[in-house]
Amino acid sequence: MNFNIAVLKGDGIGPEIVNEAIKSLNAIGKKFNHNFNFTEALMGACAIDATGNPLPDETLELCKKSDAVLFGSIGHPKYDNDPNAKVRPEQGLLKLRKELGLYANIRPVAYYPALAEFSPLKSEIITGADFVVVRELTGGIYFGEKGRKNDNKTAYDICEYTDYEIVRIAKVAFELAQKRRKKVTLVDKANVLESSRLWRDVVKNLAGNYPDVELDFLFVDNAAMQMILRPTQFDVILTENMFGDIISDEGSVIGGSIGLLPSASTGDKVGLFEPIHGSYPQGAGKNIANPMATILSAAMLLESGLNLVDEANTVRDAVALAIENNVATEDLNKVNPVGTDAVGDYIANAILKP
Ligand code: IPM
Ligand code: MN
Repeated sequence: MNFNIAVLKGDGIGPEIVNEAIKSLNAIGKKFNHNFNFTEALMGACAIDATGNPLPDETLELCKKSDAVLFGSIGHPKYDNDPNAKVRPEQGLLKLRKELGLYANIRPVAYYPALAEFSPLKSEIITGADFVVVRELTGGIYFGEKGRKNDNKTAYDICEYTDYEIVRIAKVAFELAQKRRKKVTLVDKANVLESSRLWRDVVKNLAGNYPDVELDFLFVDNAAMQMILRPTQFDVILTENMFGDIISDEGSVIGGSIGLLPSASTGDKVGLFEPIHGSYPQGAGKNIANPMATILSAAMLLESGLNLVDEANTVRDAVALAIENNVATEDLNKVNPVGTDAVGDYIANAILKP
């Protein structure tokens, strides 16, 4: 079949890691007889430099008419360290999420036995950990009213949620749990926040439609602790936008490297697939960034974006083989690491093997 993929390489290490994911997709195309047409566009700091806008209209139009979007990473230190910057790279990604209606961000956290030594956590704690963070992505404090008042001396960011927004993401979590170990943990701060109390109400009510799924609740501070004390207790973690941002980075500690965690952002139409990590500007251009999270994001693109399940599993098997054989960048191989491109080549070749 023919598929149109929008490619937003973004900033920092983005171009390098996305190139390796494209190699894997091309290998899948060859093996399974698909044709992927890749069209590149700018988003992030690179787009600000070229056009003044972190999400140019033509990028948005391209994404809207594509079958899926593959994205690298976003961000540049020159904006991070300038609190007065009027435009920021991240605004491009946030606007794209909103415009494409990508309310569901799925972030699987897996443990690879071969990598146990890379996690700072003891192997008896992480063995068997396998959970998915379902993060609401287009609401909450990220998108609420924000501003300054009192002569610029007071700043505010409002966290707002509607029951509609909570129901649609909670359904994603319950349905996912039904295909897994049938447990949803709602992570919130209902002892303090009114928005969290609405989440609890709405999610409790909805749970009646999923009698086969166990629902429990954790405050986010406790959840952050439980995730590294006993990560095997989790199956599906359902949470709002900012809590999900924070605990998914924490989850990467279990796998041993943030360079391993992929994500899918989906909504009603086209999906966007990206690693959970940032643009790692210090590593840009050095051929040292781990491309596995992006390649695994390409696997999620195949599975949930294009409905190509065998193809997705073929990519995951090839990544697992690279991990088993220790073909990895320096984050996962301290003794004889290989470059970003060599990891990508190895995985693409593994895909092509009969
Ligand atoms: C992520 C990132 C983004 C977020 C940034 C780049 C806006 O940290 O995808 O987790 O906070 O959502
Ligand atoms: Mn994040």
